[in-house]
Amino acid sequence: MTRSVSTSAPGKLLLYGEHAVVYGYPSIVTAVDARLIVSIEESQSTTVEIHAPQVKDSRFVDSAIAEFTKLTGVSVGRIRLTTSSAFSGKFGFGSSSAVTVGVLLALSKYFSKPMTQRELFDIAYRAVMDVQGVGSGVDIAAAVFGGTLFYRKGGVTLEQLKIAQLPIVVGYSGVKSNTVELINQVAMKQKAEPEKFDRLMKAIGKLVEQTLDPLLNNDLERVGKFMDFNQEYLRDLGVSCEKLENLISAAKRAGAYGAKLSGAGGGDCMIALVSHEKRKIVEESITAAGGEVVHITPNAEGVKIEL
Ligand code: PMV
Repeated sequence: MTRSVSTSAPGKLLLYGEHAVVYGYPSIVTAVDARLIVSIEESQSTTVEIHAPQVKDSRFVDSAIAEFTKLTGVSVGRIRLTTSSAFSGKFGFGSSSAVTVGVLLALSKYFSKPMTQRELFDIAYRAVMDVQGVGSGVDIAAAVFGGTLFYRKGGVTLEQLKIAQLPIVVGYSGVKSNTVELINQVAMKQKAEPEKFDRLMKAIGKLVEQTLDPLLNNDLERVGKFMDFNQEYLRDLGVSCEKLENLISAAKRAGAYGAKLSGAGGGDCMIALVSHEKRKIVEESITAAGGEVVHITPNAEGVKIEL
């Protein structure tokens, strides 16, 4: 019988604290049920055959394999590695991190080298840093642990938040964003305007801490207000764009509690917090403003073995 294993890892949406998280401030991220599947099966070829159409950059797969070998001493070969997903990578849900985490769990199962979740996080973070050089690892944390997390860079803080509900609408701006470019752009801002930069980072950090209470107590009005404040700071940081602003305004006009960009900015997705009654009208307004509503469920399960 041919040996095979499949894993699935969730994507993520940043709820609060993007960019500031790169500088050590806290963030809140939720895993979403836009899952990326990684399958490994035995192959006759001595090398690793990779078919990963969902992955923009195959270096993440190579890097995950290299880190696995470094850690376990297993020389990976005679396998076919395939990825699939019901979701397009274009939305920016973190397919690079999801694939890195999914590949690592699949390898650990296939070659019988068990890892704890923490080990999986640490090795996946190294693999992503080998490729990108920058980043907080927040999307890796979401892929590994799932749920909704209070997170600090490198996994210094990793707390599951027990949230009763998170009624969000997601709108894709139609513009593809480049995370590394935006992180570098923010780093330039730090050089150019260090005082303003510091003020913004501290304000975002404080806001994330303050959001915990309303979030855990299901106070949607305050949770929404904090989204609006976070968006103001992100705009000031220079990472918003016209398309995102249009969708955010449309959602607010239609009665959302709050709305902001999610992730690096410059494009990709925005999120709006809505009441059950307002969901439909907010979705319609986002569509009318030129956005594409993406139906996902937050608080999704972390990476897991599928077979
Ligand atoms: O571009 P995304 O959706 O993966 O979000 C990145 C979040 C940043 O804070 C901008 C970068 C990071 O590594 O934390």
